[in-house]
This record gives sequence, C-alpha cells and structure tokens, in this order.
Amino acid sequence: MEFVQRLEAAARRTEDHLRALLDECGPAANGRLGDAMRYAALAGGKRFRPFLVIESAALFGVEERMVLDAAAAIECVHCYSLVHDDLPSMDDDNLRRGQPTVHRAYDEWTAILTGDALLTLAFEILAQPAGQRDASVDVDLVLALAKAAGGRGMVEGQMFDLEAEKLGTPETPTIDHIRKLHALKTGALIACACEAGAILGRATAIDRAALRRYGEHLGFAFQIADDLLDAEGDTEIVGKETGKDNARGKATLVTLLGVDNARACLEEAERDAVNSLHLFGGRAATLIEAARFAAQRAR
Ligand code: IPE
Ligand code: IPE
Ligand code: MG
Ligand code: MG
Ligand code: MG
Repeated sequence: MEFVQRLEAAARRTEDHLRALLDECGPAANGRLGDAMRYAALAGGKRFRPFLVIESAALFGVEERMVLDAAAAIECVHCYSLVHDDLPSMDDDNLRRGQPTVHRAYDEWTAILTGDALLTLAFEILAQPAGQRDASVDVDLVLALAKAAGGRGMVEGQMFDLEAEKLGTPETPTIDHIRKLHALKTGALIACACEAGAILGRATAIDRAALRRYGEHLGFAFQIADDLLDAEGDTEIVGKETGKDNARGKATLVTLLGVDNARACLEEAERDAVNSLHLFGGRAATLIEAARFAAQRAR
C-alpha cells in the first residue's frame, strides 16, 4: 500500500476508535460539551501522531488493536491543544481542519471546557483497565504523555510561543530559542507518540531512545513544515488561515531566516530523523517515509 493510503487507513481506524471511546467515556453527544468534543476530535485531521504510535509499535510486532488506546489518547491531547491554540487569547484563529474553530462554532467558554475535557479524557483512556495490556505499560504511557503535554513539554512550548509574540521576549529570538520552542510545543508530543510504540513493544532502552530521537527530529521538521505552510500554503488545502505568523510576529525559522533557509533546516531535520532509525534497518521503512511526509506535506 502507498504511504498516504496507509496513513489514511490508520486515520480512519483511529477515528473509529476515538468515536467509540467518546461514546463509552465522554459526555452524551446530545449535550453541548459532548457535541463540542466530538466536533473537535472527530472532524478530520491527518492523525499523524496516532500513525506514529501504530508504526513505532509495529517495529516490535505489537498488533494494532493493542495500540489504539494509546494512539487515541495522544490524539485527544493533540486535539485539545489545537482547540486552545486557536482561542482568541492565543492564536485567534477562525478555521481549523477546514471548519470553523470550536470557539467560532460554539463560543469561547465552550472551547475552553472542551479542551479541558479532551485532555482529561486522554488520561482516562490510558488508565482504564484494558484487559490485554500490562498495568506497568499503562503507567509508563501515562507518565510519558503527562511529561510531553505539561509544563515541561507542550504547554511550556506554547508559553514560549506566546511570550515571543505578545511580550516580545526574547527581543531577537535566536535559532536556538526557536529550536527549543519547537521541541517543546510540537516535538514533545510527536516524540511521545514514537516512544509510546517502544513502551507498548517493551523495547530495549536503546531502541526506545532511538525512537525518541527520531521523534524529536521529526517534530522539528513537522513544525518547520507547518510554518512554511503558513507562509506559502493555500488555505483551501491547509484547512487553516495562512499568512498569519509573520503578521503576528511569531518566532519561527521562516520569520527569522526566510523561506529558503527554513527549507534547508527542514531538509536537515528530515535527514536527522531518518538517521536516528539506522539500528532498525529495513523494518523502519514506513517511519522513514513518515519523515519524508512530515517534511513535504501540503497540509
Ligand atoms: C497542527 O498539527 C499543529 C502543529 C503542531 C503544527 P497537525 O498538522 O498534525 O494538525 P491536524 O491534526 O492534521 O489537523
Ligand atoms: C501549534 O503551533 C502547536 C500546538 C501545540 C497546538 P501552531 O500555532 O503553529 O499550529 P497551527 O498552525 O495553529 O496549527
Ligand atoms: Mg500556536
Ligand atoms: Mg496556531
Ligand atoms: Mg502554524
């Protein structure tokens, strides 16, 4: 199967699983919160992080049905991060995945609570007894996701992003500052998705560290590609408003170095990601393609 078809098929299975989990653990679909959660979590999205969980776990022969909870949990955290990222007091965006953002379709307080509930749901999904999974695996997954999502992970990255935009700190961002910002706001969750595959597969520390490194480089590539799409992409295809980062004074490699230099950094990050996989040999072919996809994607 072609890479893109594989990604789409995994996205469909993740979405079906997420729908079932929302029905099982979430608020009723006919109430405002349940409706907004489904709007935020089930409408489109590449489901790239779940795909990384599935494909990283596949390296160790873990079957997909064993990994879908972890894949769905990480996607819940990602969807929550998007709902809050779009809020008027954050990036103030009107369009997400080709649809009005949650605060536009509902209102701001509903969007805040929807994000809160999706974040919490992620940990409920991981912590509820799963039958086939070992409890120590679940604890490891909870710890990895909490670290990636929280105040030393994605949330701290969002803080750096908004400090640069709204407070102008640091006055002139350096490449190192942007690298750190990207590593936290985007890299942390992507690296967690890759590491989750190793946790589920009870991989050796060496293999787990290699997947984590891959995820970190991949996350950097993914965010540079996102910033290039903001600069050059077409709203119709990207599914979000474009041309906003520069106007808002976001600290990105594109705003700092320009499109061409940012693209060179992106290619280097893709190479670094692929090189991190060398110890898996040919088994890592799909993850290598995932790095190319992250770098070359059009949405
Ligand atoms: C967008 O993530 C936010 C970033 C971290 C760059 P995605 O590009 O994965 O968004 P969806 O889930 O496919 O909509
Ligand atoms: C988002 O970065 C990172 C998150 C943690 C959500 P952006 O703000 O650039 O993502 P988009 O462009 O709105 O998807
Ligand atoms: Mg943002
Ligand atoms: Mg944004
Ligand atoms: Mg962006």
